[in-house]
This record gives sequence, C-alpha cells and structure tokens, in this order.
Amino acid sequence: MMAGEERGVEREKGQAAAFPASVGSTGGDRWGRQRVPMLLAGLGAMAGFGAALGGYALFFEPFSVRTERMALRLLRERPGIPSEGLNILHLSDTHFRGADRREHAKIAQVRRATAGEKIDLLIHTGDFLHDDRGLENVLALVDSLPKPRLGAFAVTGNHDYLFYSMRRAPVYTWRVFRAREEGAGSGNGGRPRVDVDDSGMALARRILRFGRYLLQNRMDGEPVGQNDIARLRRALEERGIQFLDNRAVRLGSTEVYLVGVEDWLEGRPDLQKGFAGVPRGAPTVLLSHNPDIIASEAAGRADLILCGHTHGGQIVLPLLGPAYTHSEQLARGEASGYTRRGNTHIYVHRGLGESIPVRFGAPPHVTFIRLLPAHEEPDMFCAG
Ligand SMILES: [Fe+2]
Repeated sequence: MMAGEERGVEREKGQAAAFPASVGSTGGDRWGRQRVPMLLAGLGAMAGFGAALGGYALFFEPFSVRTERMALRLLRERPGIPSEGLNILHLSDTHFRGADRREHAKIAQVRRATAGEKIDLLIHTGDFLHDDRGLENVLALVDSLPKPRLGAFAVTGNHDYLFYSMRRAPVYTWRVFRAREEGAGSGNGGRPRVDVDDSGMALARRILRFGRYLLQNRMDGEPVGQNDIARLRRALEERGIQFLDNRAVRLGSTEVYLVGVEDWLEGRPDLQKGFAGVPRGAPTVLLSHNPDIIASEAAGRADLILCGHTHGGQIVLPLLGPAYTHSEQLARGEASGYTRRGNTHIYVHRGLGESIPVRFGAPPHVTFIRLLPAHEEPDMFCAG
C-alpha cells in the first residue's frame, strides 16, 4: 500500500513536472467556462442584430415612401420650354402583384405625398406589374394621383411583359451568359438560343469570365410566364395614360417633345423611330424603362432621360454600395437618382415596389422634377 501510495505520489510529482502549467489549467478551465457564455452572448447579439436588420428590410423600409424633389436646367439652349418650367411627377417600378396589405399601404403613402401638387406631366417608366394579379391595385394607385395639366405618359417595363422565377436565376443566368458568349443573344438582352458543351481548362476560363459577368450586374430571373400586357395597357389608356412605344408626342402648346421607347430586354426599342418627327434642337425628354438605353448614341439627343429598372440596387451595403444594379451601363454609384452623360440629364428612379420584397438603403419614392430652360430669363424690371 505504502509503495503504491508512494508510487502514486511520485506519479503526481511526475505529472507536475511534466505539466508545469497545471496550476494555470485551473484558470484555463475558468476561462473556458466563461468563454462559452460570452460566445453565446456574442452569437445571440449578432443573431438579434441580423434579425433587426432583416425585419427592417422586410417590414419597414419597403413601406417608407420618400418624396424627392429636384430642379434641372437644360444643359444646352433649347428654345420652346416654358420659362416657369415643367413640373413632372415621376413614378416607376410599382411591381404590384395583388399583395393587398403591402400595396394598399404604398398607395396610401403615395396619395399623401402627392396630394395637392400641381403637375404638368405624370410619368411612369414601367414595371407597373409584377404579375397580372396586381392590375387592380395599379389602377387604384393611378386613381389616387393628381391630374396632370399636359398629360400622363408611360413606357412598359420587362415585368409588364413577363413574370420571372428567381429560384432558378443562377442556372438561367449561366445559360444566358453562354448564349451571349456564342454571339447568339444580341439585341434581345441575350436570351439563350444555343447550347455549347465545355470541358477542362476551357470550362475553368469560362467560369472565371462568368464571375466577371456577374460582377457587371447581370443576374436574370428565368421567364416562366407572360403577363397580359394588352389588358394592362387598355385599362391604363382608359384612365388617360398614353403609352409611348417608339414614338413621340409634342406637349400641348409648348415646343417640348416626349419620346418613349419599348423595353430594352423584352420589347423592341427603336430610338430612330422614336425621334422621327422630333425637330432637331427641340427640348426633349426620353422615357425608357431600362437605363441601358444610354448605350445608344441617339439617346444623347434627349435633354433628360427618365428611367427605372434598377430599384436602386434594393440592397445598398455600407461602403460597397448597391448589391446589384441590373444595369450594364451605369456605374454602381449611379443606380439611383441623378447622373449625367454629356448634355443629357439622367434620372434613375428606385421604384415604388420590389421584385424580391426587401429594401435596405434604397427606400421607395415619388419624385418631383422641375425642368427649366438653360438660362433664367432676364428680369424685365431689373435696372441694367
Ligand atoms: Fe422593376
């Protein structure tokens, strides 16, 4: 027994010698015991923060309709625009789909934001619908708006033609990308028409190019059905909205022209046809759902381009900016609001609705734009 005890003592001594930090291991256990609740608390705080951000993006910001106002002077002399300017109410991308609670809330906010405003033009730059179930609420929205003095005008957006599934968007986008690489998709947004097999290094290089393609803000939902665009147009035309499909109108007794083009992705945009009959040098506003129309040289004839489609990126990340602009022509920072090309003002509307129903840092809005002549007229009563 004694020997065993001694051996045991020796063993303890040996352990102490072999593990001189055994005293510290008691502190380590304490730290370990403290670390678990601290980690849990940290994870809990992160989960809570994430849930709060998610709740904000899902339930608050999409319903927070803002009002934006701006005055724009033409960037070149264009005689014929009233000296007091034109007051434009610009809406876009309502994306209604019959989700009554969401859509009624937005309609009520738009009604409050626009009540009593004196407007010359009411403009909607497309994506009225997400799918056909939204028509009734689109009409309710139009009925809630102030009546314009010179008319209401619109162009169609890609969602007015089709509805899309985002579930298979990555696979579909890959197919579109491949078709574009094969040169089969030009002129219609790159819809796939061919299948080409890849293997080995060629495939690896193609995957790298696909990564760059995604970074250029292309992610297409897969078209899975058609909306009844004829019914939408009929219903809106009955309410006095004129669709400008590759055509122009002169605004009342002014010399100002309004040109509209069909959607860049799903329609057949034709600027030559749109500008036909518009005198060179006349002040012109161009309506296009998709801002990528600026790739066409003829778009430079316009003094102001009004467009939508980007939703302002919908999710705008701190430091990084809009997550996805859905535009190949705009820089990431141009996905929302004012920008410019040459002598052409461009205004990109973030929209009132959403495709995927979240917004963060890109709230829905209505915009009032006052379009003014290039120079202020001299005051006749000023001494000089
Ligand atoms: Fe849209």
